[in-house]
Amino acid sequence: MGEILKPLKGDFHLTDYQSVYETFNWKDVSLFNKQTVNAAYETIDRHVEEGYGEKIALHYVNQDKREDLTFKEVQRQVNHYVHILRSNGVKKGDRVFIFLPKNPACYIAILATIRIGAIAGPLFEGFMEEAIKERINDCKANVLITDQTLGERIKTENIPTVATILYQETIEKAPIVEDHYVEWMDPGEGMLIHYTSGSTGQPKGVLHAHRAVTHHAQSGKWVLDVHDEDVYWCTSHPGWVTGSVYGLFAPWLNRATIVIQGGRFNAKLWYQIIEDLGVSILYSAPTAFRYLMAEGDLYKQYDLSSLRHILSVGEPLNPEVIYWAHRALQLRIHDTWWMTETGGHIIVNLPSEPIKPGSMGRPFPGIEVGILDEEGNELPRGEIGQLAVKTTWPGLMKTIWNNDEKFRSYFPYKGWYISGDLATQDEDGYIFFQGRHDDMINSSGERIGPFEVESSLIEHPAVKEAGVIGKPDEIRGEIVKAFITLRSNVDETPELKESIRQHVKTRLAAHSAPREIEVINELPKTKISGKILRRELKQKEIERQAIDKS
Ligand code: WT7
Repeated sequence: MGEILKPLKGDFHLTDYQSVYETFNWKDVSLFNKQTVNAAYETIDRHVEEGYGEKIALHYVNQDKREDLTFKEVQRQVNHYVHILRSNGVKKGDRVFIFLPKNPACYIAILATIRIGAIAGPLFEGFMEEAIKERINDCKANVLITDQTLGERIKTENIPTVATILYQETIEKAPIVEDHYVEWMDPGEGMLIHYTSGSTGQPKGVLHAHRAVTHHAQSGKWVLDVHDEDVYWCTSHPGWVTGSVYGLFAPWLNRATIVIQGGRFNAKLWYQIIEDLGVSILYSAPTAFRYLMAEGDLYKQYDLSSLRHILSVGEPLNPEVIYWAHRALQLRIHDTWWMTETGGHIIVNLPSEPIKPGSMGRPFPGIEVGILDEEGNELPRGEIGQLAVKTTWPGLMKTIWNNDEKFRSYFPYKGWYISGDLATQDEDGYIFFQGRHDDMINSSGERIGPFEVESSLIEHPAVKEAGVIGKPDEIRGEIVKAFITLRSNVDETPELKESIRQHVKTRLAAHSAPREIEVINELPKTKISGKILRRELKQKEIERQAIDKS
């Protein structure tokens, strides 16, 4: 295999992984020991109280717009949102869904919701009507915060539990009234809900508790390695867990200046933002790094000297991409592994430690990882098995909303959380991703449940049945591919396929729409239960791809 990349030298918060790993206990962290806590207070208000109110909390860039806010100004706006929410009767335990573009208001609305003890449900701005409706109704949300543009995707009669819809434009027009209210919470009480896909059933609401800030803060310190002078940029939208935990909580708990970029990926723009804002830490996904690599020498046109630390998450990070960054930018890319359900980093590469390209890294201090066989026994090093995490740790989800059975299914063996991933661990403790244990699709780092896409497909009048898989793809990791059978009297045409694609795109989200649709006569199914055999579809697809390549 490839060469091991040496640890960096620098003033990192954690420099002796081995001894810290052996001695660290979550109880050593002050946040862990609090009787009552409020995640939003810890994230913003505490810094103002400690005298950092004038520090820049965020740089917002969107096309020609540029806005900088201090911690004090963020706090002032959170106070304003708190006032609006409370005067609309929002109280502890209510679910407030936030459907906004990646802009400061999105972050502020999340924090205001959490500060009054309600549960924030941030939604990705790319979601369309069906996807939004599904999530809001499962959670029986009470309130929705959106803007005029995104709000058009919502029909109020489809979301009967939502008593109040608040528009960003209206909130911002209202005279600022600051309400400093903080609801002090038991650390185990809920604060944040993220919907995530499984291989069966509709997306599930993963509920996180206030105690998770202990995990966010500690991993922000050790893995993101945030220092006071850093400008930190996580490219994910807060509707995804990476965008909330490592785009909002972890950096701000560590008092970092964050970058919020509106708009989509664009290699030139990204390099420009790094140069203009002096970004020093960048957290993104392998797909973005592969795009940057595909742009070749483009990076040479920019001054990227501010960058000192790069991290990656969401899908397998190819060794060649790490080697490219090492050559081109003279920086390593630090892979991290975790899931919506784990609430924070589980497997990490620290800046002070050697990197084995191809490995996701080693367990975060205070967390024990195991590779298990089908009976739940730990396998010897070097063998492939189920990637599991010993319970419990502060970031672990509190429950799956309204679905105890699903929650329990993550813990089939005593004392272990099962991830659904397959992995192997080497003699030095480094863990290597080997694939999924189920049918989940990972396209550009976005987790897509085949069931949700299949359900949408069969709502199209021409589609009889559908089986959806992830087809390996060089840039995106996987793409969504649908095998469908058509109703009788329907002819397969390019227009029909496009209309089916659009159907999913306009109801769920662009990233869920199949990039490839193949019409077949019959779908492979299990004999007894008649379930669609996605694995068989995928196997055939991979074999065909291998033939095409040879
Ligand atoms: C799944 C979780 C919370 C992180 C963003 C995705 C895959 C995650 C890696 C990695 C290979 C990875 C796994 C995991 N995944 N990180 N470093 N290398 N695969 O969160 O949407 O909950 O998806 O993403 O398959 O189970 P998510």
